[in-house]
Amino acid sequence: MNESTTLQPVTRRQFLKSSAVATTALGVATASIPRVFAAGTDKLRVGLIGCGARGIGAAMNCVLSAPGVEIVALGDVFADRLEAALKRLKDNHAGKEWSCSRDWKNADQIKATPETCFTGFDAYRKVLAAGVDMVILAGPPHFRPQQLKAAIEAGKHVFMEKPVAVDPAGIRTIIAASDLAKQKQLAIVAGTQRRHEARYVETMKRIRDGAIGEVLAAEAYWNGGCVRHYGFYHKPEPAWSGLETMLRNWYFYSWLSGDHIVEQHVHNLDVVNWAMGGPPVEALGVGGRQWRTEPEYGNIYDHFGVRYRYANGAILVSTCRQIDRTKPLVDEGLVGTKGKAAAGRIEGANAFRFEGNNPNPYEQEHADLIQSIRDGKPLNEGRTVAEATLTAIIGRMSAYTGQPIRFDWALKNSELDLTPDEIKHGGYRLGPAPIVPPAPLGNADLV
Ligand SMILES: NC(=O)c1ccc[n+]([C@@H]2O[C@H](COP(=O)([O-])OP(=O)(O)OC[C@H]3O[C@@H](n4cnc5c(N)ncnc54)[C@H](O)[C@@H]3O)[C@@H](O)[C@H]2O)c1
Repeated sequence: MNESTTLQPVTRRQFLKSSAVATTALGVATASIPRVFAAGTDKLRVGLIGCGARGIGAAMNCVLSAPGVEIVALGDVFADRLEAALKRLKDNHAGKEWSCSRDWKNADQIKATPETCFTGFDAYRKVLAAGVDMVILAGPPHFRPQQLKAAIEAGKHVFMEKPVAVDPAGIRTIIAASDLAKQKQLAIVAGTQRRHEARYVETMKRIRDGAIGEVLAAEAYWNGGCVRHYGFYHKPEPAWSGLETMLRNWYFYSWLSGDHIVEQHVHNLDVVNWAMGGPPVEALGVGGRQWRTEPEYGNIYDHFGVRYRYANGAILVSTCRQIDRTKPLVDEGLVGTKGKAAAGRIEGANAFRFEGNNPNPYEQEHADLIQSIRDGKPLNEGRTVAEATLTAIIGRMSAYTGQPIRFDWALKNSELDLTPDEIKHGGYRLGPAPIVPPAPLGNADLV
Protein backbone atom coordinates (compact mmCIF):
# COMPACT_ATOMS: atom_id res chain seq x y z
CA MET A 1 0.00 0.00 0.00
CA ASN A 2 1.27 3.42 -0.90
CA GLU A 3 2.07 5.48 2.17
CA SER A 4 2.84 8.75 0.48
CA THR A 5 3.60 11.40 3.04
CA THR A 6 0.80 13.82 3.59
CA LEU A 7 1.90 17.35 2.89
CA GLN A 8 1.00 19.14 6.07
CA PRO A 9 0.18 22.82 5.99
CA VAL A 10 3.03 24.92 7.29
CA THR A 11 2.90 24.43 11.01
CA ARG A 12 2.80 27.05 13.68
CA ARG A 13 6.06 26.38 15.40
CA GLN A 14 9.45 26.69 13.88
CA PHE A 15 10.56 23.18 14.88
CA LEU A 16 7.61 21.60 13.16
CA LYS A 17 8.03 23.40 9.88
CA SER A 18 7.97 20.13 8.29
CA SER A 19 9.52 19.87 4.91
CA ALA A 20 12.88 21.03 6.20
CA VAL A 21 12.56 19.05 9.40
CA ALA A 22 11.41 15.93 7.61
CA THR A 23 14.43 16.05 5.35
CA THR A 24 16.77 16.60 8.25
CA ALA A 25 15.00 13.96 10.27
CA LEU A 26 15.21 11.46 7.49
CA GLY A 27 18.90 12.23 7.13
CA VAL A 28 19.45 11.73 10.85
CA ALA A 29 17.32 8.65 10.85
CA THR A 30 19.03 6.90 8.00
CA ALA A 31 22.45 7.80 9.37
CA SER A 32 21.75 6.47 12.86
CA ILE A 33 21.88 2.81 13.74
CA PRO A 34 18.97 1.82 16.00
CA ARG A 35 20.38 0.79 19.37
CA VAL A 36 19.74 -2.65 20.71
CA PHE A 37 18.49 -2.12 24.23
CA ALA A 38 21.06 -3.36 26.69
CA ALA A 39 20.09 -5.03 29.96
CA GLY A 40 20.74 -3.40 33.34
CA THR A 41 20.33 0.27 34.07
CA ASP A 42 20.69 1.52 30.53
CA LYS A 43 18.21 4.02 29.18
CA LEU A 44 15.14 2.86 27.28
CA ARG A 45 14.52 5.20 24.37
CA VAL A 46 10.84 5.24 23.45
CA GLY A 47 9.00 6.66 20.44
CA LEU A 48 5.31 7.58 20.53
CA ILE A 49 3.26 6.93 17.39
CA GLY A 50 -0.25 8.39 17.58
CA CYS A 51 -0.15 11.47 19.82
CA GLY A 52 -3.78 11.66 20.96
CA ALA A 53 -5.36 11.35 24.38
CA ARG A 54 -4.22 7.76 24.99
CA GLY A 55 -0.84 8.28 23.39
CA ILE A 56 -0.06 11.12 25.80
CA GLY A 57 -1.29 9.03 28.75
CA ALA A 58 0.61 5.93 27.63
CA ALA A 59 3.83 7.92 27.18
CA MET A 60 3.44 9.27 30.73
CA ASN A 61 2.57 5.81 32.10
CA CYS A 62 5.67 4.41 30.42
CA VAL A 63 7.96 7.08 31.89
CA LEU A 64 6.40 6.78 35.36
CA SER A 65 6.51 2.97 35.40
CA ALA A 66 10.27 2.41 35.50
CA PRO A 67 13.54 4.30 35.85
CA GLY A 68 15.61 5.27 32.82
CA VAL A 69 12.78 5.77 30.32
CA GLU A 70 12.95 8.65 27.85
CA ILE A 71 10.49 9.66 25.12
CA VAL A 72 12.83 10.52 22.28
CA ALA A 73 10.60 10.70 19.18
CA LEU A 74 6.98 11.50 18.32
CA GLY A 75 4.91 10.78 15.22
CA ASP A 76 1.37 11.68 14.22
CA VAL A 77 -0.48 12.26 10.97
CA PHE A 78 -1.44 15.75 12.10
CA ALA A 79 1.02 18.44 13.19
CA ASP A 80 -1.46 20.10 15.59
CA ARG A 81 -1.98 16.82 17.46
CA LEU A 82 1.75 16.23 17.73
CA GLU A 83 2.37 19.77 18.85
CA ALA A 84 -0.35 19.57 21.53
CA ALA A 85 1.05 16.27 22.80
CA LEU A 86 4.58 17.62 23.01
CA LYS A 87 3.34 20.71 24.83
CA ARG A 88 1.48 18.57 27.36
CA LEU A 89 4.38 16.18 27.88
CA LYS A 90 6.74 19.10 28.46
CA ASP A 91 4.39 20.73 30.98
CA ASN A 92 5.03 19.80 34.60
CA HIS A 93 2.32 22.08 35.93
CA ALA A 94 -0.87 20.73 34.38
CA GLY A 95 -1.44 18.04 37.01
CA LYS A 96 -2.37 14.42 36.48
CA GLU A 97 -3.64 12.69 33.32
CA TRP A 98 -6.61 10.37 33.90
CA SER A 99 -4.56 7.21 33.41
CA CYS A 100 -1.68 8.29 35.68
CA SER A 101 -1.39 7.69 39.40
CA ARG A 102 0.41 10.93 40.14
CA ASP A 103 1.09 14.45 38.93
CA TRP A 104 3.27 14.74 35.88
CA LYS A 105 6.65 16.11 36.90
CA ASN A 106 8.83 14.29 34.42
CA ALA A 107 9.11 16.73 31.53
CA ASP A 108 12.90 16.36 31.67
CA GLN A 109 12.45 12.79 30.39
CA ILE A 110 10.84 14.08 27.18
CA LYS A 111 13.86 14.28 24.88
CA ALA A 112 12.09 14.57 21.53
CA THR A 113 13.66 17.30 19.41
CA PRO A 114 12.62 18.99 16.16
CA GLU A 115 14.66 16.36 14.34
CA THR A 116 12.72 13.52 15.96
CA CYS A 117 9.16 14.86 15.56
CA PHE A 118 7.44 13.64 12.41
CA THR A 119 4.11 14.21 10.76
CA GLY A 120 2.28 12.53 7.87
CA PHE A 121 1.20 8.98 7.14
CA ASP A 122 4.78 7.73 7.11
CA ALA A 123 5.66 9.39 10.44
CA TYR A 124 5.75 5.95 12.06
CA ARG A 125 8.54 4.80 9.77
CA LYS A 126 10.56 7.88 10.67
CA VAL A 127 10.02 7.31 14.40
CA LEU A 128 11.17 3.71 13.95
CA ALA A 129 14.34 5.00 12.28
CA ALA A 130 15.06 7.65 14.93
CA GLY A 131 17.15 5.54 17.28
CA VAL A 132 14.35 4.20 19.49
CA ASP A 133 14.43 0.90 21.43
CA MET A 134 10.66 0.69 21.81
CA VAL A 135 7.55 2.28 20.36
CA ILE A 136 4.09 2.99 21.73
CA LEU A 137 1.43 2.45 19.04
CA ALA A 138 -1.59 4.57 19.96
CA GLY A 139 -3.18 5.62 16.68
CA PRO A 140 -6.57 4.41 15.39
CA PRO A 141 -6.88 0.59 15.27
CA HIS A 142 -6.91 0.41 11.44
CA PHE A 143 -3.22 1.34 11.37
CA ARG A 144 -2.06 -1.10 14.07
CA PRO A 145 -1.25 -4.13 11.86
CA GLN A 146 0.96 -2.20 9.41
CA GLN A 147 2.67 -0.32 12.25
CA LEU A 148 3.29 -3.41 14.40
CA LYS A 149 4.70 -5.29 11.40
CA ALA A 150 7.07 -2.40 10.61
CA ALA A 151 8.11 -2.05 14.27
CA ILE A 152 8.97 -5.72 14.66
CA GLU A 153 10.75 -5.85 11.32
CA ALA A 154 12.78 -2.85 12.50
CA GLY A 155 13.73 -4.72 15.70
CA LYS A 156 11.77 -2.61 18.21
CA HIS A 157 9.96 -3.61 21.38
CA VAL A 158 6.31 -2.54 21.34
CA PHE A 159 3.53 -1.35 23.57
CA MET A 160 0.39 -1.31 21.43
CA GLU A 161 -3.04 -0.13 22.34
CA LYS A 162 -6.08 -2.34 21.87
CA PRO A 163 -7.86 -3.19 19.65
CA VAL A 164 -5.11 -4.39 17.34
CA ALA A 165 -7.04 -4.67 14.07
CA VAL A 166 -10.49 -4.11 12.60
CA ASP A 167 -10.79 -7.17 10.33
CA PRO A 168 -9.48 -10.73 9.89
CA ALA A 169 -6.87 -9.56 7.34
CA GLY A 170 -5.39 -7.27 9.99
CA ILE A 171 -5.53 -9.99 12.65
CA ARG A 172 -3.42 -12.29 10.49
CA THR A 173 -0.81 -9.53 10.11
CA ILE A 174 -0.73 -9.04 13.90
CA ILE A 175 -0.27 -12.76 14.55
CA ALA A 176 2.51 -13.05 11.96
CA ALA A 177 4.29 -10.01 13.43
CA SER A 178 3.90 -11.43 16.96
CA ASP A 179 5.41 -14.75 15.86
CA LEU A 180 8.31 -12.85 14.31
CA ALA A 181 8.73 -10.90 17.56
CA LYS A 182 9.13 -14.21 19.41
CA GLN A 183 11.87 -15.28 17.03
CA LYS A 184 13.59 -11.92 17.40
CA GLN A 185 13.23 -11.84 21.22
CA LEU A 186 11.21 -8.62 21.06
CA ALA A 187 8.55 -7.77 23.61
CA ILE A 188 4.93 -6.92 22.80
CA VAL A 189 2.52 -5.78 25.51
CA ALA A 190 -1.04 -4.71 24.67
CA GLY A 191 -3.31 -2.11 26.23
CA THR A 192 -5.70 -4.71 27.61
CA GLN A 193 -4.68 -3.45 31.03
CA ARG A 194 -6.89 -5.81 33.04
CA ARG A 195 -4.24 -8.48 32.31
CA HIS A 196 -1.88 -6.39 34.49
CA GLU A 197 -4.34 -5.42 37.22
CA ALA A 198 -3.68 -7.26 40.48
CA ARG A 199 -7.33 -7.95 41.40
CA TYR A 200 -7.91 -9.55 37.98
CA VAL A 201 -4.58 -11.39 37.97
CA GLU A 202 -5.16 -12.91 41.43
CA THR A 203 -8.74 -13.92 40.65
CA MET A 204 -7.80 -15.37 37.30
CA LYS A 205 -4.96 -17.46 38.76
CA ARG A 206 -7.50 -19.10 41.05
CA ILE A 207 -10.03 -19.66 38.26
CA ARG A 208 -7.39 -21.21 36.01
CA ASP A 209 -6.46 -23.45 38.99
CA GLY A 210 -10.07 -24.66 39.19
CA ALA A 211 -11.46 -22.50 42.04
CA ILE A 212 -14.93 -22.35 40.42
CA GLY A 213 -14.66 -25.68 38.62
CA GLU A 214 -15.40 -25.84 34.94
CA VAL A 215 -16.65 -22.49 33.65
CA LEU A 216 -20.03 -23.04 31.98
CA ALA A 217 -21.42 -19.53 31.62
CA ALA A 218 -20.13 -15.99 31.45
CA GLU A 219 -21.37 -12.45 31.02
CA ALA A 220 -19.57 -9.38 29.69
CA TYR A 221 -20.85 -5.82 29.35
CA TRP A 222 -19.77 -2.39 28.21
CA ASN A 223 -22.98 -0.42 28.29
CA GLY A 224 -22.72 3.36 28.49
CA GLY A 225 -23.31 6.66 26.75
CA CYS A 226 -21.96 8.07 23.49
CA VAL A 227 -18.21 8.52 23.26
CA ARG A 228 -18.63 12.02 21.85
CA HIS A 229 -18.73 13.12 25.50
CA TYR A 230 -15.13 11.95 25.80
CA GLY A 231 -13.85 14.09 22.94
CA PHE A 232 -14.17 11.57 20.13
CA TYR A 233 -16.28 13.82 17.90
CA HIS A 234 -14.56 16.75 16.14
CA LYS A 235 -16.73 19.18 14.23
CA PRO A 236 -15.32 19.45 10.69
CA GLU A 237 -13.32 22.60 9.93
CA PRO A 238 -13.44 24.22 6.47
CA ALA A 239 -9.76 23.49 5.81
CA TRP A 240 -10.17 19.75 6.43
CA SER A 241 -10.44 17.39 3.48
CA GLY A 242 -12.95 14.55 3.55
CA LEU A 243 -10.36 12.01 4.68
CA GLU A 244 -9.03 14.36 7.35
CA THR A 245 -12.54 14.79 8.77
CA MET A 246 -12.97 11.02 8.74
CA LEU A 247 -9.59 10.38 10.36
CA ARG A 248 -10.16 12.93 13.10
CA ASN A 249 -13.50 11.20 13.75
CA TRP A 250 -12.05 7.72 13.34
CA TYR A 251 -14.15 6.28 16.14
CA PHE A 252 -17.36 6.47 14.09
CA TYR A 253 -16.11 4.56 11.02
CA SER A 254 -15.85 0.79 11.22
CA TRP A 255 -12.87 0.64 8.83
CA LEU A 256 -10.90 2.80 11.27
CA SER A 257 -12.18 1.71 14.70
CA GLY A 258 -13.77 -1.69 14.10
CA ASP A 259 -17.03 -0.34 15.64
CA HIS A 260 -17.48 0.07 19.40
CA ILE A 261 -17.82 -3.65 20.11
CA VAL A 262 -14.22 -3.94 18.89
CA GLU A 263 -12.85 -0.63 20.14
CA GLN A 264 -14.27 -0.76 23.67
CA HIS A 265 -15.92 -4.08 24.51
CA VAL A 266 -12.73 -5.96 23.57
CA HIS A 267 -11.59 -5.39 27.18
CA ASN A 268 -14.45 -7.42 28.65
CA LEU A 269 -14.35 -10.13 25.99
CA ASP A 270 -10.62 -10.52 26.65
CA VAL A 271 -11.32 -11.20 30.33
CA VAL A 272 -13.67 -14.07 29.47
CA ASN A 273 -11.18 -15.52 26.95
CA TRP A 274 -8.56 -15.35 29.71
CA ALA A 275 -10.79 -17.32 32.09
CA MET A 276 -11.69 -19.85 29.38
CA GLY A 277 -8.06 -20.31 28.31
CA GLY A 278 -8.74 -19.29 24.69
CA PRO A 279 -11.21 -17.68 22.30
CA PRO A 280 -14.77 -18.84 21.57
CA VAL A 281 -15.65 -21.10 18.66
CA GLU A 282 -18.62 -19.11 17.42
CA ALA A 283 -20.53 -15.84 17.71
CA LEU A 284 -24.21 -15.20 17.06
CA GLY A 285 -25.07 -11.53 17.35
CA VAL A 286 -27.63 -8.82 16.84
CA GLY A 287 -27.18 -5.08 16.86
CA GLY A 288 -28.26 -1.83 15.30
CA ARG A 289 -28.04 1.91 14.92
CA GLN A 290 -31.25 3.19 16.42
CA TRP A 291 -30.22 6.25 18.42
CA ARG A 292 -26.91 7.64 17.13
CA THR A 293 -28.22 7.97 13.58
CA GLU A 294 -26.90 11.38 12.39
CA PRO A 295 -24.53 11.10 9.40
CA GLU A 296 -21.67 12.78 11.26
CA TYR A 297 -21.52 9.66 13.41
CA GLY A 298 -20.29 7.60 10.49
CA ASN A 299 -21.42 4.02 9.97
CA ILE A 300 -21.04 2.26 13.33
CA TYR A 301 -23.82 0.72 15.41
CA ASP A 302 -24.88 1.99 18.83
CA HIS A 303 -25.69 -1.40 20.38
CA PHE A 304 -24.78 -5.08 20.08
CA GLY A 305 -25.88 -8.26 21.83
CA VAL A 306 -23.85 -11.39 21.15
CA ARG A 307 -24.00 -15.00 22.33
CA TYR A 308 -20.58 -16.63 22.17
CA ARG A 309 -20.05 -20.38 22.47
CA TYR A 310 -16.76 -21.85 23.74
CA ALA A 311 -15.24 -25.26 22.93
CA ASN A 312 -16.58 -26.87 26.14
CA GLY A 313 -20.11 -25.64 25.40
CA ALA A 314 -19.90 -22.66 27.78
CA ILE A 315 -22.01 -19.69 26.74
CA LEU A 316 -21.00 -16.05 27.06
CA VAL A 317 -23.74 -13.44 26.97
CA SER A 318 -22.33 -10.10 25.91
CA THR A 319 -23.90 -6.70 25.40
CA CYS A 320 -22.42 -3.34 24.59
CA ARG A 321 -24.23 -0.10 24.02
CA GLN A 322 -23.41 3.57 23.47
CA ILE A 323 -26.73 5.29 24.06
CA ASP A 324 -27.15 8.29 26.37
CA ARG A 325 -29.48 8.25 29.37
CA THR A 326 -29.23 4.47 29.80
CA LYS A 327 -27.96 2.63 32.86
CA PRO A 328 -24.20 2.11 32.62
CA LEU A 329 -22.79 -1.35 33.22
CA VAL A 330 -19.16 -2.31 32.57
CA ASP A 331 -18.39 -5.71 34.04
CA GLU A 332 -17.60 -9.38 33.58
CA GLY A 333 -18.87 -12.43 35.47
CA LEU A 334 -18.24 -16.18 35.36
CA VAL A 335 -20.31 -19.15 36.55
CA GLY A 336 -18.62 -22.50 37.11
CA THR A 337 -19.58 -25.91 38.44
CA LYS A 338 -18.18 -24.99 41.88
CA GLY A 339 -18.84 -21.29 42.21
CA LYS A 340 -19.07 -17.85 40.68
CA ALA A 341 -16.44 -15.19 40.04
CA ALA A 342 -15.94 -11.57 39.06
CA ALA A 343 -12.89 -9.32 39.25
CA GLY A 344 -11.52 -9.55 42.79
CA ARG A 345 -14.06 -11.99 44.20
CA ILE A 346 -15.01 -15.66 44.12
CA GLU A 347 -18.12 -17.20 45.70
CA GLY A 348 -18.51 -20.89 46.49
CA ALA A 349 -16.30 -23.61 47.92
CA ASN A 350 -13.12 -21.60 47.29
CA ALA A 351 -14.43 -18.18 48.25
CA PHE A 352 -11.95 -15.33 47.86
CA ARG A 353 -11.99 -11.58 48.15
CA PHE A 354 -9.08 -9.54 46.83
CA GLU A 355 -7.88 -7.12 49.47
CA GLY A 356 -4.32 -6.47 48.34
CA ASN A 357 -2.70 -3.50 46.74
CA ASN A 358 -4.14 -2.84 43.27
CA PRO A 359 -1.59 -0.65 41.46
CA ASN A 360 -2.66 1.45 38.49
CA PRO A 361 -2.86 -1.09 35.64
CA TYR A 362 -2.04 1.57 33.03
CA GLU A 363 1.37 1.92 34.67
CA GLN A 364 1.73 -1.72 35.68
CA GLU A 365 1.47 -2.88 32.06
CA HIS A 366 4.48 -0.72 31.16
CA ALA A 367 6.36 -1.79 34.30
CA ASP A 368 5.85 -5.46 33.36
CA LEU A 369 6.85 -4.79 29.75
CA ILE A 370 10.04 -2.93 30.66
CA GLN A 371 11.00 -5.46 33.35
CA SER A 372 10.62 -8.25 30.80
CA ILE A 373 12.89 -6.40 28.36
CA ARG A 374 15.49 -5.70 31.04
CA ASP A 375 15.39 -9.31 32.24
CA GLY A 376 15.87 -10.57 28.68
CA LYS A 377 12.55 -12.46 28.98
CA PRO A 378 10.33 -10.46 26.65
CA LEU A 379 6.60 -10.70 27.20
CA ASN A 380 4.62 -11.33 24.05
CA GLU A 381 0.88 -10.62 24.25
CA GLY A 382 0.42 -10.34 20.49
CA ARG A 383 -1.59 -13.51 20.03
CA THR A 384 -3.87 -13.12 23.06
CA VAL A 385 -4.83 -9.57 22.13
CA ALA A 386 -5.30 -10.64 18.50
CA GLU A 387 -7.66 -13.37 19.72
CA ALA A 388 -9.57 -10.92 21.92
CA THR A 389 -9.85 -8.49 19.02
CA LEU A 390 -11.05 -11.21 16.65
CA THR A 391 -13.58 -12.32 19.26
CA ALA A 392 -15.08 -8.83 19.07
CA ILE A 393 -14.78 -8.74 15.27
CA ILE A 394 -16.77 -11.98 14.81
CA GLY A 395 -19.46 -10.57 17.11
CA ARG A 396 -19.67 -7.53 14.84
CA MET A 397 -19.60 -9.66 11.67
CA SER A 398 -22.45 -11.75 13.00
CA ALA A 399 -24.55 -8.71 13.99
CA TYR A 400 -23.92 -7.02 10.62
CA THR A 401 -24.92 -10.12 8.63
CA GLY A 402 -27.37 -12.05 10.77
CA GLN A 403 -25.19 -15.14 10.33
CA PRO A 404 -23.36 -17.15 12.99
CA ILE A 405 -19.61 -16.63 12.50
CA ARG A 406 -17.02 -19.21 13.53
CA PHE A 407 -13.75 -17.97 14.99
CA ASP A 408 -11.57 -20.42 13.04
CA TRP A 409 -13.26 -19.64 9.76
CA ALA A 410 -12.75 -15.91 10.31
CA LEU A 411 -9.11 -16.44 11.28
CA LYS A 412 -8.20 -18.70 8.38
CA ASN A 413 -10.68 -18.10 5.58
CA SER A 414 -12.40 -14.74 5.85
CA GLU A 415 -11.09 -12.30 3.27
CA LEU A 416 -12.74 -9.34 4.95
CA ASP A 417 -10.51 -6.26 4.74
CA LEU A 418 -12.38 -3.07 5.59
CA THR A 419 -9.80 -0.76 3.99
CA PRO A 420 -11.72 1.36 1.44
CA ASP A 421 -10.85 0.62 -2.21
CA GLU A 422 -9.58 4.15 -2.79
CA ILE A 423 -6.90 3.58 -0.13
CA LYS A 424 -6.14 0.01 -1.19
CA HIS A 425 -5.41 1.25 -4.70
CA GLY A 426 -4.29 4.83 -4.21
CA GLY A 427 -2.68 4.91 -0.78
CA TYR A 428 -3.29 7.37 2.04
CA ARG A 429 -3.73 10.98 0.91
CA LEU A 430 -5.59 13.77 2.63
CA GLY A 431 -8.04 14.22 -0.24
CA PRO A 432 -11.71 13.36 -0.64
CA ALA A 433 -13.20 10.91 1.83
CA PRO A 434 -13.29 7.32 0.63
CA ILE A 435 -16.76 5.95 0.02
CA VAL A 436 -17.80 3.76 2.93
CA PRO A 437 -20.94 1.64 3.11
CA PRO A 438 -23.77 2.73 5.40
CA ALA A 439 -24.24 0.84 8.67
CA PRO A 440 -25.51 -2.62 7.67
CA LEU A 441 -29.15 -3.41 8.33
CA GLY A 442 -28.34 -6.71 9.99
CA ASN A 443 -28.71 -8.98 6.97
CA ALA A 444 -25.80 -7.83 4.82
CA ASP A 445 -24.47 -10.20 2.17
CA LEU A 446 -20.93 -9.22 2.90
CA VAL A 447 -19.32 -8.80 6.25
N1 LIG B 1 -6.56 0.83 27.03
C1 LIG B 1 -7.47 1.74 27.20
O1 LIG B 1 -8.17 1.78 28.22
C2 LIG B 1 -7.69 2.77 26.12
C3 LIG B 1 -8.33 3.99 26.44
C4 LIG B 1 -8.50 4.92 25.41
C5 LIG B 1 -8.09 4.64 24.11
N2 LIG B 1 -7.49 3.43 23.85
C6 LIG B 1 -7.05 3.11 22.48
O2 LIG B 1 -5.98 3.98 22.11
C7 LIG B 1 -6.04 4.26 20.71
C8 LIG B 1 -6.04 5.77 20.50
O3 LIG B 1 -7.17 6.33 21.14
P1 LIG B 1 -7.20 7.88 21.57
O4 LIG B 1 -8.30 8.00 22.57
O5 LIG B 1 -5.86 8.34 21.95
O6 LIG B 1 -7.63 8.58 20.19
P2 LIG B 1 -7.23 10.04 19.70
O7 LIG B 1 -8.09 10.34 18.53
O8 LIG B 1 -7.22 10.99 20.85
O9 LIG B 1 -5.72 9.86 19.20
C9 LIG B 1 -5.35 9.16 18.06
C10 LIG B 1 -4.15 9.90 17.46
O10 LIG B 1 -3.61 9.13 16.38
C11 LIG B 1 -3.31 10.02 15.32
N3 LIG B 1 -3.26 9.26 14.08
C12 LIG B 1 -4.27 8.97 13.21
N4 LIG B 1 -3.81 8.20 12.21
C13 LIG B 1 -2.49 8.02 12.44
C14 LIG B 1 -1.46 7.34 11.76
N5 LIG B 1 -1.70 6.70 10.59
N6 LIG B 1 -0.20 7.37 12.27
C15 LIG B 1 0.05 8.05 13.40
N7 LIG B 1 -0.88 8.73 14.10
C16 LIG B 1 -2.13 8.69 13.63
C17 LIG B 1 -4.40 11.07 15.39
O11 LIG B 1 -4.06 12.25 14.70
C18 LIG B 1 -4.52 11.28 16.89
O12 LIG B 1 -3.62 12.26 17.36
C19 LIG B 1 -7.28 3.54 20.20
O13 LIG B 1 -6.94 2.29 19.67
C20 LIG B 1 -8.12 3.33 21.42
O14 LIG B 1 -8.95 2.19 21.32
C21 LIG B 1 -7.27 2.52 24.82
